[in-house]
Amino acid sequence: MNQQAPVSTAQRDMLANRLRKNLKQLGRWARRAGVQAWRLYDADLPEFALAVDLYHTLDDGLHVVVQEYQAPAHIPEEKTRARREAGLAVVAEVLQLDAAHLHFKLRQRQKGKAQYEKLAEKGNRHWVEEDGLQFEVNFDDYLDTGLFLDHRITRALLRQAAHGLHCLNLFAYTGTASVHMAAGGAAATTTVDLSRTYLDWAGRNLARNGFDNREQHRLIHNDCLQWLEQGGDGQRYDLVFLDPPSFSTSSRMRRTLDIQRDHVELIGYLRRLLKPGGKLLFSNNLRRFKLDEGALSHWQPENISRQTLPEDYRRNPRIHQAWWLTRPVSTTSPWG
Ligand SMILES: C[S@@+](CC[C@H](N)C(=O)[O-])C[C@H]1O[C@@H](n2cnc3c(N)ncnc32)[C@H](O)[C@@H]1O
Repeated sequence: MNQQAPVSTAQRDMLANRLRKNLKQLGRWARRAGVQAWRLYDADLPEFALAVDLYHTLDDGLHVVVQEYQAPAHIPEEKTRARREAGLAVVAEVLQLDAAHLHFKLRQRQKGKAQYEKLAEKGNRHWVEEDGLQFEVNFDDYLDTGLFLDHRITRALLRQAAHGLHCLNLFAYTGTASVHMAAGGAAATTTVDLSRTYLDWAGRNLARNGFDNREQHRLIHNDCLQWLEQGGDGQRYDLVFLDPPSFSTSSRMRRTLDIQRDHVELIGYLRRLLKPGGKLLFSNNLRRFKLDEGALSHWQPENISRQTLPEDYRRNPRIHQAWWLTRPVSTTSPWG
């Protein structure tokens, strides 16, 4: 073994063994649960700060997305690069992947719009199944693939809750939650996002699953903050999914969004849009987020973060937090 090598053979073997172990254990769970897209590895070993996601596509076999968590500034770039290259080589070997099916992304701590900008323009779209529904994924062109795997159970909960209801999906991204609510028998869905690209993508997801009536399943291109401030579209909803980014800023927005600062205000706006007793599923991915329970006590928040944590994210329980909130019928709160 070469002591000078930044990544030793022993370290490579450790990674290979961990990947094989996870493939066996989590693979068994995924097969039983019928899950086609799941997280195999999540920085389980500190030397390899990677997340490895498997997507068994309907049209092109297994694709693997490897994301590297940004290394602290004191780690020399050379070392990070050597670990990255070794990590990718081990992933490719263990999963027997050819280069075209292995996708790499550097996950930097980003604020605002950089998160949603294009990384490439390969235009390779694939389809992946979740609970009998089909979703378009793109492994190269953006930081995210189109399907957030940590919210698999959240989407299933929304689907179960949606029957016969008027449903609203805010900050909807590719509309995957709207498709689930539609599949759950929603009377109607409304999908709102600031990005034309993602809204079009949501339209393709809805259409692919048979929900192409745009009067019943509406797409709204708007800044959710502004839209909510204005009272939405005048409709009343029974079920709302609010899963905003932690921070958002865009030239198309009148003001920035900071979910810690703004969540009470955002939820307050929803009082006007929800029918009395209507339900809101609120979630976000800000690791240090704290729900203002005092200001929102009349919404009877029920923390469902553990319940919505999938098996493949157990190693990283702070990936998201989620709550059911119930629209207060009457209140003396200034936010009501
Ligand atoms: C973290 S994702 C939300 C995830 C999504 N709820 C899901 O279930 O997949 C961020 C999305 O918020 C959208 N977005 C960011 N700021 C926005 C704003 N002010 N109004 C509407 N959409 C916004 C982005 O275009 C992007 O699609």
